[in-house]
Amino acid sequence: MCGIVGAIAQRNVVPVLVEGLKRLEYRGYDSAGVAVHTGSAITRVRRVGRVAEMENAAAEINLTGQLGIGHTRWATHGGVTEYNAHPHVSHGQIAVVHNGIIENHDEQRERLKQLGYVFESQTDTEVIAHLVHHYYKNGGLDLVEAVRVASRELSGAYAIAVIALDQPDVMACARKGCPLLVGLGEGENFIASDVSAIISSTRKVIFLEEGDIAEVRREGVKLTDQQGQPIERKIHFSDVSLASLELGPYSHFMQKEIHEQPKALADTIEQVLHDGFLPALFGAGASEILSQIDGVQILACGTSYYAGLTARYWLEAIAGIPCSVEVASEYRYRDAVARPNTLIVTISQSGETLDTMEALKYAKSLGHKWALSICNVKESAIPRASDLVIYTRAGAEIGVASTKAFTTQLIALFALTCTLAKLRGKLTAARETEYLDALRQLPGSVQHALNLEPQIRVWAERFAGKDHALFLGRGVHYPIALEGALKLKEITYIHAEAYPAGELKHGPLALVDENMPVVVIAPNDALLEKVKSNIQEVRARGGEMFVFADLDSHFSESEAVHVIRTPRHVGVLSPVVHAIPVQLLAYHSALMRGTDVDKPRNLAKSVTVE
Ligand code: G6P
Repeated sequence: MCGIVGAIAQRNVVPVLVEGLKRLEYRGYDSAGVAVHTGSAITRVRRVGRVAEMENAAAEINLTGQLGIGHTRWATHGGVTEYNAHPHVSHGQIAVVHNGIIENHDEQRERLKQLGYVFESQTDTEVIAHLVHHYYKNGGLDLVEAVRVASRELSGAYAIAVIALDQPDVMACARKGCPLLVGLGEGENFIASDVSAIISSTRKVIFLEEGDIAEVRREGVKLTDQQGQPIERKIHFSDVSLASLELGPYSHFMQKEIHEQPKALADTIEQVLHDGFLPALFGAGASEILSQIDGVQILACGTSYYAGLTARYWLEAIAGIPCSVEVASEYRYRDAVARPNTLIVTISQSGETLDTMEALKYAKSLGHKWALSICNVKESAIPRASDLVIYTRAGAEIGVASTKAFTTQLIALFALTCTLAKLRGKLTAARETEYLDALRQLPGSVQHALNLEPQIRVWAERFAGKDHALFLGRGVHYPIALEGALKLKEITYIHAEAYPAGELKHGPLALVDENMPVVVIAPNDALLEKVKSNIQEVRARGGEMFVFADLDSHFSESEAVHVIRTPRHVGVLSPVVHAIPVQLLAYHSALMRGTDVDKPRNLAKSVTVE
């Protein structure tokens, strides 16, 4: 969703802002803008559409300056218009960029109108610009103090960066609820909502925490709390690789990330193979916590939720521990019954999804004692709010449709399952060896699945012209059917639904005819014979079947039953391997439909609002 970048330097910062905004494009946005201190004015350039359009407009007026802020906006309050795009200004004096939502903006707007402020946008952000201006000009405070006082009057979630015409040597920032970091350079400093935005300028970063106010100057950065007391924060060295932020030889980030899975999995598995299924994988104190829990409650959104659904089968079957999985946005608003010793497990690629974060806080408020986070972004908000964490090592995931994050999350969940099983005396030494061996083989099996791409491309040709599709799976492969349907709808806009194959007769069979392709995930597992009967039910109604099986599933192909076989049966880790062909099917169908694969319409990579 929205992204922030800012810079103060002894050089022209416009290229830094533009590059930063381009690196934030992946989060999803619909307009972009910058505000630059040109020496005599704060000049704003905003455009609906791509950052490149805004960049061209800035070049046309030869915009330059040594202090500036930039923003990619994903519309929430007010439509997608240039007027609503950030930065927002007050009286040409103050310019603000903002991520998050100001909940009391109506009330503040009324108050500011009474004070004579005129609003030109429908956004909640414009309230911040006028409020800061009010304290700055009318209250006689300097910029940092004006931001501090204003931020105390804002409720909701925000990360803001503000500049002032009369103070060309400072940028003021505040953080509550939304990520914001400061990047430290030599004689120049930066701010960003996401480290990728500034990585080519510096890797030394300070993550702001709740209530922090940052005074960012060329020569240094001062951090204070909302009362003005100085605070210290650790300096981190970001290990995000530039290569992971660039396309290289690929056409799309999604394609790149699908193909990176053998490596992403190997990197994530490495930490498990190194130590075995030991609590230490999940951080200090894990041994004590994990040996006391009596259940697992998984909370997540989107693809991460489907990883959780897969894990439930493992946790109950292998570790014998009760497990519930719930969409975070549902859990956080219902009167759930707390089970204090049930471990809360949040799964989030970004570590900043608002609903997941709020669900975690809610679970804690209900009395759950412990929370573990599975996350791909170091130092992000959700792991920081958790007692235990395991980081997936997928590398930066840029494509909106999650791929390598999903399969690496499955590894983290499998490792959690086996660790709990071991602690509970349910994992024999022979089983442990078998599972470790299966993990070792997995990147190779995933590579074999990727090699099926040419066959899947042929299937995609048949899919591209369809309006609907049905995905079926059973048992641990049912969540893979859900994930396949989600991938297809996200990037091709084909309406796709997934069902547990056993539910076919209870409704979806009514939809089946020759226009409804049916994808079946059918490896050789305990439910194979049942899936075969489900396939007959579809066949009898004229439906065309696309079956993903493995080598020993013994399906006979016919005119309307197409089969692609993954080359090995990988037992308990089979859902990881079967995630690959459904990703490829969605990707190639999207290519044929000509959609914007990495930036599908209406979707965002990190959903930081409700
Ligand atoms: C968005 C993304 C999805 C992702 C979901 C949860 O909807 O487009 O790809 O699965 O958010 O994100 P998280 O970062 O919490 O895993």
